[in-house]
Order: sequence, then structure tokens, then C-alpha cells
Amino acid sequence: MTLGREKLCFLNTPTPLERLNRLSEELGVNFYLKRDDLTSFGTGGNKLRKLEYLVKDAQSQGATMLLTVGGAQTNHGRLTAAVAARYSMRSAIVAVDPYPGEISANLLLDGIMGCSVYLIKPEPNRSAGEVQAEAVRRVTAQWEEKGEKVYFIPTGGSNELGALGYYDCAVELAEQTKALGLEHPRLFTTAGSLGTYMGLQLGIKNEKLPLRLTGIGIMPFKNGIVSEAVAYYQRIKTFYSLELDIAPEEFDLIADYDCGGYNNPVREVREAIYLMGRREGIILDPCYTGKTFAGILDMIKTGKIRQGETIIILNDAGTTEIYTRHHRVEMEKELQNYIHIVDLHAQK
Ligand SMILES: Cc1ncc(COP(=O)(O)O)c(C=O)c1O
Repeated sequence: MTLGREKLCFLNTPTPLERLNRLSEELGVNFYLKRDDLTSFGTGGNKLRKLEYLVKDAQSQGATMLLTVGGAQTNHGRLTAAVAARYSMRSAIVAVDPYPGEISANLLLDGIMGCSVYLIKPEPNRSAGEVQAEAVRRVTAQWEEKGEKVYFIPTGGSNELGALGYYDCAVELAEQTKALGLEHPRLFTTAGSLGTYMGLQLGIKNEKLPLRLTGIGIMPFKNGIVSEAVAYYQRIKTFYSLELDIAPEEFDLIADYDCGGYNNPVREVREAIYLMGRREGIILDPCYTGKTFAGILDMIKTGKIRQGETIIILNDAGTTEIYTRHHRVEMEKELQNYIHIVDLHAQK
């Protein structure tokens, strides 16, 4: 129980905290990876920790179905489908996104896990938010007519309750870093819908944990990433009647590495992914942790991360996104040289 809220316990926590020996040596930092990509099922990822709280709440309200929103390739949607399957619930995803031309990556996994995906055509004269809200109302009504009780989960599971999953992760990580004797570790996380960052920050501040947190924004934020975080924290503070204040300058969120768009194919990000794959055998994703790692490589190069510093990256997992067409085709071009087509019987 955290801040008076109960959760389901379906995870294989603590997830490993692993030292990346080859990269540590090559980059001159003491480099660790927190393996939240290894969380139990649905191919893993950060959303499972949030869903432990959200689905407990859904159950306590007698819900029979989970409905969430995101892009067509939402990782959070895929993990919502996975948890719904485990707990005998239906699931659906509403995405204001055109059909991507193929059922690949997360869309494929959603179907395998029995989740209905509603791809809603974007409308030029209405904001995506408005279109999404209307689609959610309609899909909810459709299912409720059939007798389901629908529980709505916002984008990324990032609300007051979902953030608690990463409050718990901060506590878990502080125990691991203490056991390893790591001094002043600096934790990096990807910041998208901000629930992961916020949960970690709240856990660190409220429990006075010896961790320093930096979030790397992976897309541009309309009102600036820090003001979004400040507004989110205000909602949390009110919800749990917390006395803790977190000043805007305490939200260390970097907007320099968003690469100008959400989930866009970016050469430096792919190069960061190749580096991690070739040194450590770990596959990062092109939308989230890959972008964060590309940012960290730049921070090491420019001295914003000091030589010898202990850094931890939270690997949230979204590896399935590599298999979406727009990322895959770019990689296919770059990786062609690794494919050798050989006919041993061809004449010379
Ligand atoms: C793989 C992965 N990493 C990181 C994030 C970002 O987490 P948050 O949305 O809590 O900021 C997401 C969000 O969808 C994700 O799917």
C-alpha cells in the first residue's frame, strides 16, 4: 500500500539493476540499467507497474472492461490488454490515428491478446483531444449497452493513481543502489505522459531517497515540459492531501532531445540503439528509451554528465515498436550489409 492506496501484485519485482560493463568502460561512466523491460508479461514495460494500481481500482468499482487511449502503436494499450486478459476482463483501445497500413508490432499483439482497437480518423477541423473524447464516449456506450462496465484509463496510465507504480519503483531502486553501495546515483527516465517521471519524483521527495532524477522529454510539450509537470504535481498533491511542495526548479526535465516529434524516426536514436545492441545485447525502442539513451550519449560527449559519474537509465521497454513500418524501413536500409544471401550450390 502506498499513500493509502492498494494495488494488485502481479509483477516479478524487484526488476534487475544491471551494470553495463562494456559501455561503462567505453563511455567513462559507471553505467547501470534498471530492467523494467523485464517485467512479467505482455512483453513487459513500465505501464505494468501503473496498472497494478489502476486495475485494483477498476476491480473495486466492479468494472468488467478496461478502455484506454493512445496512438495506434501504444505500448500502454498493449499492456492494458495483457492485464485485462489475466484478470478476465475485456479491453479496448481508442486511437485517433489512421490505419498504419499493416497490423504489426503492438497492433498485432493487441489482437493476439483479444483487445479491440478503434482507429479513429483524425479530423482537420477538430483537435485530436475532442475527437478522442467523442470516440471514447461512443465506444463506452456501445460496450455498456452490451452489459459491460467500462473503466477508463487515461493516456499512459498517467493519473494520480498510476503514478504510484513508480513511487514504489523509486523505493525499490533506492534499496538496490544502497545494497550495491552506489554513491549519488543519477537516475534518468523517459518523460512522455509524465506518470513514470512523476511517480519517481514523488517517491524520491516524499521518502527522502538518495537518488537524483532527470527526465528526458521525448516529444515537444505545448506549454513546456516543466509547467506540465508542475500542473500534474498539483493534481497529485490535492488528490492525496499531501503537504509536500515540489518547486518548479526541482523538476529536472530536459527538452533538448525530443528530436522535434513523437515517435519519429531519427538517425541518432537508431545509432544509440545499435550501440546498446552491439555492446550489451539489449534492445532499446526507437520512441522512448532509445531517444533517452541518444540524449545521454550527447550529455556525456558535451560534459553535462561527468566522467566517472554513476548513472542509471530506467529501461521502460517498447521494443515492439521497432517492428512498426516507419522505424523498420529505416533500419532495413542501414542494416542491409548484415544480410548475406548465399547459395552454396551456385556456379562460380
Ligand atoms: C516504453 C515506454 N517508455 C516510456 C514511456 C513514458 O512513460 P510516461 O508516459 O509515464 O512518461 C512510455 C509511455 O508510453 C512507454 O511506452
